[in-house]
Amino acid sequence: MADGHSRMNLQVNQEGRLRHLLDIAGLGSDRVVEILDTADSLLPVSQRSVKKLPLLRGKTVINLFYEPSTRTRMTFELAAKRLSADVLNLDIEHSSARKGESLIDTLRNLEAMHMDMLVVRHPESGSAHFFARHAAPHVTVLNAGDGRHAHPTQALLDVFTIRRHKPDFSKLTVTIVGDIMHSRVARSQIAALRALGTGEIRVAAPRTLLPAGMEHTGVRVFDQLEPALEGADVVITLRLQRERMQGAHLPSEAEYFRYYGLTAARMRLAQPDAIVMHPGPINRGVEISPEVADGAQSVILEQVTNGIAVRMAVMALTMGARGPAAAPGEPA
Ligand code: NCD
Repeated sequence: MADGHSRMNLQVNQEGRLRHLLDIAGLGSDRVVEILDTADSLLPVSQRSVKKLPLLRGKTVINLFYEPSTRTRMTFELAAKRLSADVLNLDIEHSSARKGESLIDTLRNLEAMHMDMLVVRHPESGSAHFFARHAAPHVTVLNAGDGRHAHPTQALLDVFTIRRHKPDFSKLTVTIVGDIMHSRVARSQIAALRALGTGEIRVAAPRTLLPAGMEHTGVRVFDQLEPALEGADVVITLRLQRERMQGAHLPSEAEYFRYYGLTAARMRLAQPDAIVMHPGPINRGVEISPEVADGAQSVILEQVTNGIAVRMAVMALTMGARGPAAAPGEPA
């Protein structure tokens, strides 16, 4: 895809197929739709009694998570296993990273083990691009969250979940509430929602949790929750990313909940059929009330299930980008 955009070139091979997944920005709406359509076709695999396809048979996937994770790491692992790959999880706490090994040396050693795919989560923004830039030609890198920069598979599973409930994005008002400032999820969600032509994207947060200049990005910015919820079709809540906050951004969690907590009363301002989403982990009584988290409008656990199909789709498409996944004579 010769558009001269280096970030895009890193994600796409010479034939214009997905090579790495690092960021939604620069991916293009056709490719986002291709991933969602592929995920649609892979969703039933997890409902079968034999939850396996041979698309990644003989391939080795390594999960390299330098930050805590439950949903993302487990569903990447399940996705790889459901595609018949061999999966290894490096336990960072007990790895040589704790003995001062550099990222590049870790990468070279994993390549020496003949891995085919590296799924990486790291606290530094740009780390996934770093791995992709330095990876051997046969290695695919998937970004499972880099600092506050991007979390593309989370955004893809979020728009996939929205599409299953509300397929016409041009008619939708989507409100993202919470710690936008420190959230890689919000950044990637906004890019994915834009790629799909979402009617209106709103963000709501205290001023201290809103990045400067947001109003110039085509997003409607609110520093109060109530007007941001009015008529919304989709409400996405985010956790306060305390691990990325330096200094005091908030008075207290109780006060945050008082003004920005998603309660049943506030949800009545949104459309009656609005759906409630959260990437997890949820903090009940901080950004969301238990009543809303567990209520009929919540699709939070659906997001988790859909994450497997979306990650399977990304793995299948990136492996396909490097030639046939199956050995000659085998079914692809
Ligand atoms: C998010 C993350 O790690 O960026 N969680 C996730 O991947 N499901 C959001 C968060 O940690 O709050």
